[in-house]
Amino acid sequence: MSTHSSPIIVTSALPYANGPLHLGHLAGAYLTADFFVRYNRLKNEDILFICGSDEHGVPITIAAEKEGVSPQDIVDRYHEWNKETFKKMGISFDYYGRTSSSVHHNTSQEIFTELNLKGFFKVKSEELFYDESNQMFLPDRYVKGQCPNCGYGEAYGDQCEKCGNSINPTELIKPVSSLSGETPIRKETQHWYIPLGEMQNKLESWLKTRKDWKPNVMGQIKSWLQEGLNDRAATRDLNWGVPVPVEGADGKVLYVWFEAPIGYISATKEWAMQSNKPEAWKNYWKNDKARLYHFIGKDNIVFHCIMFPIILMEHGNLILPENVPANEFLNLEGKKLSTSRGWAVWLHDYLEHFECDYLRYALGVSLPESKDSDFSWKDFQNRVNNELVAVLGNFVNRASTFIEKYADSTVPPLVDPKPLDLEMLEAITIQKHKIERAYEHFRFREAVQEGMQLARLANKYFTDSEPWKTRKTNEIACFNSLHVSIQVVAALSVLMEPVLPESMMVLRRQIGLAESIKWTDISSSMLTTGQSLQHTTLLFKKIEDASIQLELDKLQNSLKDQSRELKVEYPILKKTIHFEDFKNLDLRVGVIKEVHDVPKSNKLLAFKIDIGIETRTILSGIKKHVDNNKLIGQKVTVVCNLESRKIMGIESKGMILMAESSDGSLYFVQSDAEEGSILS
Ligand code: MF3
Ligand code: ZN
Repeated sequence: MSTHSSPIIVTSALPYANGPLHLGHLAGAYLTADFFVRYNRLKNEDILFICGSDEHGVPITIAAEKEGVSPQDIVDRYHEWNKETFKKMGISFDYYGRTSSSVHHNTSQEIFTELNLKGFFKVKSEELFYDESNQMFLPDRYVKGQCPNCGYGEAYGDQCEKCGNSINPTELIKPVSSLSGETPIRKETQHWYIPLGEMQNKLESWLKTRKDWKPNVMGQIKSWLQEGLNDRAATRDLNWGVPVPVEGADGKVLYVWFEAPIGYISATKEWAMQSNKPEAWKNYWKNDKARLYHFIGKDNIVFHCIMFPIILMEHGNLILPENVPANEFLNLEGKKLSTSRGWAVWLHDYLEHFECDYLRYALGVSLPESKDSDFSWKDFQNRVNNELVAVLGNFVNRASTFIEKYADSTVPPLVDPKPLDLEMLEAITIQKHKIERAYEHFRFREAVQEGMQLARLANKYFTDSEPWKTRKTNEIACFNSLHVSIQVVAALSVLMEPVLPESMMVLRRQIGLAESIKWTDISSSMLTTGQSLQHTTLLFKKIEDASIQLELDKLQNSLKDQSRELKVEYPILKKTIHFEDFKNLDLRVGVIKEVHDVPKSNKLLAFKIDIGIETRTILSGIKKHVDNNKLIGQKVTVVCNLESRKIMGIESKGMILMAESSDGSLYFVQSDAEEGSILS
C-alpha cells in the first residue's frame, strides 16, 4: 500500500456557526468523511482531515438579529459548541478552524488580491435592493419575494427553497426587505464578479478528467452547465465578513461563498503552525501528488464543483479536488428535515441519551448516498437492537464468554481445522476486501453492511459448530470453534473501527490488541494461541420502546410549539391553461386492491388499482408517507392517461394523485364515488 507517497486531504463543509448541529449535518458531510479518514488512517495513509466554522455571511447576521445579539456572540457560542459536539460524535478532525481567524482573513484577502491583480474579476456597477429605513443593501436572504421560476411566495434573494433554483435578487417578484418588511428601493453599487460564464469551457475540460464521480453529483453539475453559467458576485455590501482588500471598498466584504471554501486552506495553515511545521500545509495544497476530497451535502455542489475549482484554477499553484462525494438529503420520519419547523434531531440532545456509535451505525447503513433517505427512531431502535446488539454484540459476547468459561481465558489452539472452520477464517479476508473496495469507491453503506455481514456469518458459524456440544464430546473441535471465533472478533475490532470507534477501541483493549494496529494487520491470525484475554463487557445495550417513544414525543412537541408561529405561505397560481388541456386529462376514481414492496427501494410501493375498466399496476414513491395497513380498499384519484414508465424494472401505468401539506406529508385525494367514476 502507498505510504506517504501521495498525501490525502479531506475536507467536510464548514457548518455555519449560527445554530447547533443536527442529524442532517451528520448524514450530509461529516459521517462519511470520518469513515473515509479513519479507514485511510488505518491504512497508514498520510491523511489530513480539515473542517471548521463558517462564521460569515447573511446566515450569521440574520441569526444575530433574531436573537438581538452581535454576530460575534453568535459565532463564539456555536463555534465552541459545534466543535465539542463533533468530538463527542467521534468525528476525528485533525483541525477545526474558524473563518473569523486572522489567518483566514489574510489568506482569503491574499487570494482575492492576486486574482484581482490578474484582472480576473469583472467590476460591475448595478442597482441593487436597498432598505431605506435600515440604510443598508439587502444581499441574499435579506430580501424575500416570489420565485420567478415556480411562484413560491417565500423565495430568498439568493435561492428558492421550493424549486432549488438559484435566483438573482432583482428577479424576485414583489420583493420585501426581511428587516423592515418594506418594499426596497434600488440603489447603485459596485461589485467584483467572478466571470463563471467565461470559465465554463476550462471547467468542463477539467471535469472531463475526473473519474468515478458519483452520478448524483455529476448529474447536478451537468444541469448547471447546460443552463450556462452566470457570473457571480464575489463581494457583498455587508458589515460582517472579510473586508474587500481594495481601496475605496468600504462597507463591502467578500461573499461568504467566495471566502469560506478558502477556509479549508487557512485551517490547514493553522494546523501546520500548531504542529510546529508551518510549511507543512503546502504538502497538501501545493503538491501535485496530493489528493483533495470535499465531503459535502448536495446543496453545496455548485460551490465545490464549479465556483471553488474555478477560483483554484485561476489562482494556480493549488490542487483541485480529486473527487467530491456529495450526499443527498436525509429526511426525518418521512418528512423533510426543517430546523425552523422544529423537525430535527439535535446531536447534542441525542448524545445525552444514546451512545455515539449507535447513531454512526444506524445512519451508516441508511446514508443518503445516491438518493434521499430517511431516518426514523423506530428504524434506529431496530438497527441497534437487531444488529448491533443481536448480531455483533451477541457474537463477541458468545465467543468471549465461552473462552472465559471453557478455555481458561486464553486463546485456544487451532488443530486440524475442518472445512467449516477454514471457511470462516477465509470469510475474514473476503469481507476485508469487500469493505476495502466499498470505501475506495465511496460506497459507505456497503462498507458498514459488509462489516456487519462478517458478524452475521460468524454467529451462524458459532451456532453451526455447536461448541456447547463439542465441549463434552470433542475438545479439539470445541477449541477450534473458539479459536476461529475469537480471531473473527479480533478482525471485527479493526474492520468496524471506522464506523464504531468507541466500542471497537474498548473491544481491542479487552482482547489485547495493540493501539497501533493497522488495516494490513487484519488477518485470520491476529491473536496468538495461549494469549490471555480480559473479561469482555457487553458492547451494546438494547434500547427500550419507552426511550424511543420519548424521542418521538419530543419531536412532535417541538413541531407543535413551532406551528403556532408559522403561517403557511401559499405559492402563487400557475399560469392559466386552456379548457382543452384540462379535458385531455383522464382522471378516474380507483380503489387499491393490492400493495407490494418494490425490491431494493425504500421509497416506492407498487399498487394494483382497480379503475373500473381494468386493474393496473402503478408505482408511487410514498412508502414513508402512508400506513401500509390502511391501504387496501382505499379510494384514490388516478391520472389514467399518463404515459407509462418503467421504474426499477416494473411498468407503472399512470399516477396516483397526492396532496402535499405544508409540513411535507402526503395525502390521497379521496372520493366517495365508486371505482371507475370519471372526474370532470
Ligand atoms: N456553511 C455552508 C453550509 O452550511 C458550507 C460552507 S462549505 C465551505 O451550507 F466550503 F464554504 F466552507
Ligand atoms: Zn422556486
